[in-house]
Amino acid sequence: MIKRLVLVAVLASAMSSPALAERGDPEQGRVIAFTCAGCHGIPFHQNVYPTYSVPRIGGQSEGYIIASLRAYRSGERRHPTMQAQGNTLSDQDILDIAAYLSGLGGNQQ
Ligand code: HEC
Repeated sequence: MIKRLVLVAVLASAMSSPALAERGDPEQGRVIAFTCAGCHGIPFHQNVYPTYSVPRIGGQSEGYIIASLRAYRSGERRHPTMQAQGNTLSDQDILDIAAYLSGLGGNQQ
C-alpha cells in the first residue's frame, strides 16, 4: 500500500510541468522578449527583413519554450542563431520569457 502511494506521488510530480513549480514573471519576460521580436517578428513567425520563416513562439506552451531555450543554450538543440540567443539568457530570463510568450494569444507576437 505504501509502495503504491509513493508510485502515485512520483508519477504525479513527473507529469506536472516544471514551470508550475517555478514560474517566471510575464511582465519581466515581455521586456526581455522585446529583442526576440527582431527575428520572430510580429506576429512572431517570420523575420521582417530579409524575410525568412522563423517559428512562431507566441502562444506556445510554457514547458516547450523553456525546454527549447535550455536545449539551444546547452547546444543539445543545434542552431547557431538561437544558441547565441540562449547563451545570453539566465535561467530566470528563460522562465520569464516562457511565462510571457505562453500567455500570448494566437495572433499576437
Ligand atoms: C537572429 C534571429 C533570431 C533571434 C534574435 C531570436 N530567434 Fe528564436 N529562432 C530563430 C530561428 C531561425 C529559429 C528556428 C531554429 C531551429 O530551426 O531550430 C528560432 C527558434 C526559436 C524557438 C524554438 C521554436 C520551436 O517551435 O521549436 C524558440 C522557443 C525561440 N526561438 C525563442 C526565442 C527567444 C525567446 C528569443 C529572444 C531571447 C529569440 N528566439 C530570438 C531566430 C531568432
